[in-house]
Amino acid sequence: MTMLASQLQEYKRRRRQLMRSMEVGSIAVLPSAAEVTRNNDTFYPFRQNSSFYYMTGFNEPDAVMVLVPGRPQGEFSLFCRDRDVEREMWDGRRAGPEGVVEHYGADDAFPIDDMDDILPGLLEDRDRLFYTMGQDASFDKSLLGWVNQVKANARKGVSAPNEIVSLEYLLHEMRLIKTRAELQIMRKAAKISCQAHERAMRACKPGMFEYELEAELLYVFNQHHSPPAYTSIVGGGENANILHYIENNAELKDGDLVLIDAACEYKNYASDITRTYPVNGEFSQAQRELYEIVLESQLAAIDMAEEGNHWNDPHDAAVKVLTKGLLETGILKGKLSQLIKDKAYMPFYMHRTGHWLGIDVHDVGDYKIDQEWRLLENGMCMTVEPGLYIRPMRGVPKRFHNIGIRIEDDVVVTAKGPEVMTAGIVKTVDEIEALMAS
Ligand code: GLY
Ligand code: MN
Ligand code: MN
Repeated sequence: MTMLASQLQEYKRRRRQLMRSMEVGSIAVLPSAAEVTRNNDTFYPFRQNSSFYYMTGFNEPDAVMVLVPGRPQGEFSLFCRDRDVEREMWDGRRAGPEGVVEHYGADDAFPIDDMDDILPGLLEDRDRLFYTMGQDASFDKSLLGWVNQVKANARKGVSAPNEIVSLEYLLHEMRLIKTRAELQIMRKAAKISCQAHERAMRACKPGMFEYELEAELLYVFNQHHSPPAYTSIVGGGENANILHYIENNAELKDGDLVLIDAACEYKNYASDITRTYPVNGEFSQAQRELYEIVLESQLAAIDMAEEGNHWNDPHDAAVKVLTKGLLETGILKGKLSQLIKDKAYMPFYMHRTGHWLGIDVHDVGDYKIDQEWRLLENGMCMTVEPGLYIRPMRGVPKRFHNIGIRIEDDVVVTAKGPEVMTAGIVKTVDEIEALMAS
């Protein structure tokens, strides 16, 4: 893969920004993901470490990024697999050290097999090592070994880093605010996922199996070379009330709803969409009543995804509308403000209203700063995904039993207000019924 000049510049800007945040005399070390065995000698499809990808755009395993601000021979070094005619014939192409200099903007590059010899030298005379411990025990051990190796050479007049600082924090704060280039990719991921949902919605009919509907989504993802960002959830009827239902092996019944939480990852950026609709194309009265409540709560929550609001404001707005709806349908009884205070909605709405979205579907970034919900800023991406899940319970009108509904969209906070990146797939009762009838 070769990068466009504009992409090279984007990654370079990120590395520069990170190096500016590290103090003078520092070094950062960030390993790539490794291949993961599925069984015997076959592997899961390779997925790059998200932060490594964010900093380099390099999509091979067995690589390590090293940043040394101010290093005269070059600040960005990349260790990677060496070229190997035999291995490349079996396993696929490799960029090799020369390739990463030519195509990925590395100032300096070394074969990964030479790391034992070269990395200690890069650590010499650096005061501070930025590295995230605890993600790869074997790399942690190697790195501490190299630091100790430098320490052992103190008599030669070199010094080793005496402080290890978590690299994660700086990287996560950067990743939380999306750049224009990232937003373009995320809009594309959202668009593909909308097309996939539309295809499934059009195909849906009683008697199909949940996995057949999943196949409709996967077809569109694959058409765009965009794997699922997470395992698809396709739950008919009461299966919608199992939040992480992934068996997807039941028959879809006439008169039931189906909840689909599925979306793709495009160029390593996730989208995340949920739609819930009637298997036969027409909402029953009870389904419609609950659906309208969830939709109203979702619209109220999206409206709160405004610059300067707190992270929790969309959740509070959703909870208010949902609780009011539960009261009006007779599922809850009491006074609205007290029910909200007592979290009486929890048996029917037990999850949060969203999460950050980016290279990871549950993306990185703190939700609180100094124990307070953080303020929303331009460029933050999040999901807005309220729901109602009504299991058979005493006191709950029977006509609502076993109905599970969630509506989830992807939103970016902009100076002009919330932008719904997943607006391409219908969600009102009338729109859904019209599309399924066409
Ligand atoms: N699909 C995962 C989630 O909605 O958080
Ligand atoms: Mn989500
Ligand atoms: Mn989801």
